[in-house]
Amino acid sequence: MDKKIVLLPGDGIGQEVIHSAKEILHAVAQEFKHTFTFESHDIGGTAVDLHGTPLPDSTVEACKKADAVLLGAVGGPKWDLNPSHLRPEKGLLGIRKELGLFANLRPIKGFKKLLPSSPLKQEVIEGSDLLIVRELTGGLYFGTPSERRENGNSVVDTLFYTRKEIERIVDKAFQAAMKRKKQLTSVDKANVLESSKLWREIVEEKKAAYPEVVVQHMLVDSTAMKLITNPSQFDVIVTENMFGDILSDEASVLTGSLGMLPSASLRDDGVGLYEPVHGSAPDIAGQGIANPLAMILSAALMLRYSFGLEEEAKLVEDAVQSILDEGYHTPDLKMESGVTVGTSEMTRLIADYIQTRN
Ligand code: NAI
Ligand code: MG
Repeated sequence: MDKKIVLLPGDGIGQEVIHSAKEILHAVAQEFKHTFTFESHDIGGTAVDLHGTPLPDSTVEACKKADAVLLGAVGGPKWDLNPSHLRPEKGLLGIRKELGLFANLRPIKGFKKLLPSSPLKQEVIEGSDLLIVRELTGGLYFGTPSERRENGNSVVDTLFYTRKEIERIVDKAFQAAMKRKKQLTSVDKANVLESSKLWREIVEEKKAAYPEVVVQHMLVDSTAMKLITNPSQFDVIVTENMFGDILSDEASVLTGSLGMLPSASLRDDGVGLYEPVHGSAPDIAGQGIANPLAMILSAALMLRYSFGLEEEAKLVEDAVQSILDEGYHTPDLKMESGVTVGTSEMTRLIADYIQTRN
């Protein structure tokens, strides 16, 4: 398989972890006889310094021609006082918009060795492995009117969705469920919100096209509770923009570490943007101790969702699991015992595992 991948390292540890992802993808390509070609472009603060804008046209053009995009992270204290058009995060929001990405996928898995560092009880989170599919371009964050009225004494925000917007995100979630345990929980507030009633109707209509998937509807407040009292009951969760924003942050505590969380943002034709959930970690940048696993797991998502390479994706995920099980970890991961390694050593361990598979 021949694929063109654009790398957007960005700022801080983004530069370091992108390097790791590339090395892992090289190992995968070699092992499975694929050809991945890489092209690096600037985004964020680095792009502000080099091009005077957080999102140069050349970056946008390259991403539009790519089969997939891997992004490190953007931001840092150096640019914190910049005017808003020169802020690094403008680059990130801009590229998501330019690419028309409407579905955000966040897998959350409790790795056994890391369970003790979660604030939740080990027996509660054991076996959790879920995927939150969040609608990214509609709902309360984009609906109009959104304004102050009556001299600022009243205010309105608008939760607006079209049928088409709901259908495409629900389809994405069903498709993701088909690749997993085939259980879909659609989260809404249908006892109160009109938008949720249409959402629920559409999920019910779509069910017929995916007869193998078991569907349940759950109210968002109850979901918030169950995510921390019984997270292992979930497989795929699909929900609108704001509910998804809140639930995915809540669910992220299950893993016990920010350095372990990957994400994918997708559109219909398979093109996607893959990035770790964490930021540029200026406090540890340049020290060679950043945890590359969230970025490497994001590359695995790219193999699965943009390229359809399930076996390759699984191998990368198994490698991560297995290296952690052996006790290797970067300093951010709290383990009761084991060996502390840096970014490049961790990357090498994962690459070696991939190259020595049977
Ligand atoms: P952060 O995620 O960069 O860091 C939070 C804490 O977690 C820090 O102590 C950091 O050292 C640690 N950490 C994060 N990722 C790690 C990794 N892979 N390995 C080891 N330790 C890790 O969030 P923070 O500090 O709030 O923001 C720092 C900068 O990153 C800001 O400029 C912020 O705007 C930006 N940011 C960018 C994001 C993105 O590009 N998607 C997302 C979140 C923040
Ligand atoms: Mg959030």
